[in-house]
Amino acid sequence: MADRFPPDIDMETPSVARMYDYLLGGKDNFEVDRKACDVLLAQLPEFLTLSHQNRAFLTRAVEYAASQGIDQFLDLGAGLPTADNTHQVAQRVSPDARVLYVDNDPIVIAHGRALLAGGRGAGFLMADISQGVESVLTAPLTRDLLDTDRPLGVMLVSMLHCIPDSADPFGMVSRLMERVAPGSFLIYSHIVSDDPETAAWVTDKMLSFGTPWGRVRSPKEAAAAFEGLDRVSAWSDDRDEEPRAVDCASWRHPEIAPRTRPGDLTVKLWEYSGVAVKR
Ligand SMILES: C[S@@+](CC[C@H](N)C(=O)[O-])C[C@H]1O[C@@H](n2cnc3c(N)ncnc32)[C@H](O)[C@@H]1O
Repeated sequence: MADRFPPDIDMETPSVARMYDYLLGGKDNFEVDRKACDVLLAQLPEFLTLSHQNRAFLTRAVEYAASQGIDQFLDLGAGLPTADNTHQVAQRVSPDARVLYVDNDPIVIAHGRALLAGGRGAGFLMADISQGVESVLTAPLTRDLLDTDRPLGVMLVSMLHCIPDSADPFGMVSRLMERVAPGSFLIYSHIVSDDPETAAWVTDKMLSFGTPWGRVRSPKEAAAAFEGLDRVSAWSDDRDEEPRAVDCASWRHPEIAPRTRPGDLTVKLWEYSGVAVKR
């Protein structure tokens, strides 16, 4: 399988994109990624569940934003192509929807461009968003695909925990949301734990693999991304009730009431998620 990858890919260090691909049941990963995931899963089996729940959250959130009139998406930390990609989800609701995928992993860009060959309404841009998003917003590909004077669906789904505090991830989100047009949506999830030991263990393990990583944060810390934005209802019937930022498995799920953490208290790690609007 290695010959399907560009020659400059690091096959010795686990990559978040390939580890996530493995957890989702994909084939674009190496033994080093699978071994790293197996170390995590042996201690925290919820890693597998939260990956699938996060991907389902992404789909529901994109469908929701598209149903509210959002027809252009900036998918930051897009990940490897999978079964139902953002442009495919958005275009089911809004056939002319456009999506710019951004990632800093060269495998994501190579596979993404292959997926899109001959397709329409989507593009892949290689960029490190810890360096700020100004260069993303002004890149020629962005200008071709997106009209940044109109509302965007800004997606930071399961990626901000990859950014260390030293790169000021929440300041980056705040500057980005200041820069986009009123009416823009933020679609967001972040791996969290309410157990500091679990959070520290995961972060130490990821760093011990040599994988670029930020940290597992608490739900309260992760909530900083919503600063200054209006969170939409997490209820699938649009009820005007708390909580609005929730375990991703329960966000606007028709059969699961919104909940701040997984009901099973032995589960220590989950994706804190929500959708908010810039007024
Ligand atoms: C866990 S995956 C999430 C993929 C997708 N957003 C989802 O939720 O299904 C995180 C992605 O963020 C990307 N990523 C991590 N740090 C990044 C950075 N500094 N700039 C751009 N992308 C980054 C990784 O390469 C990976 O593809």
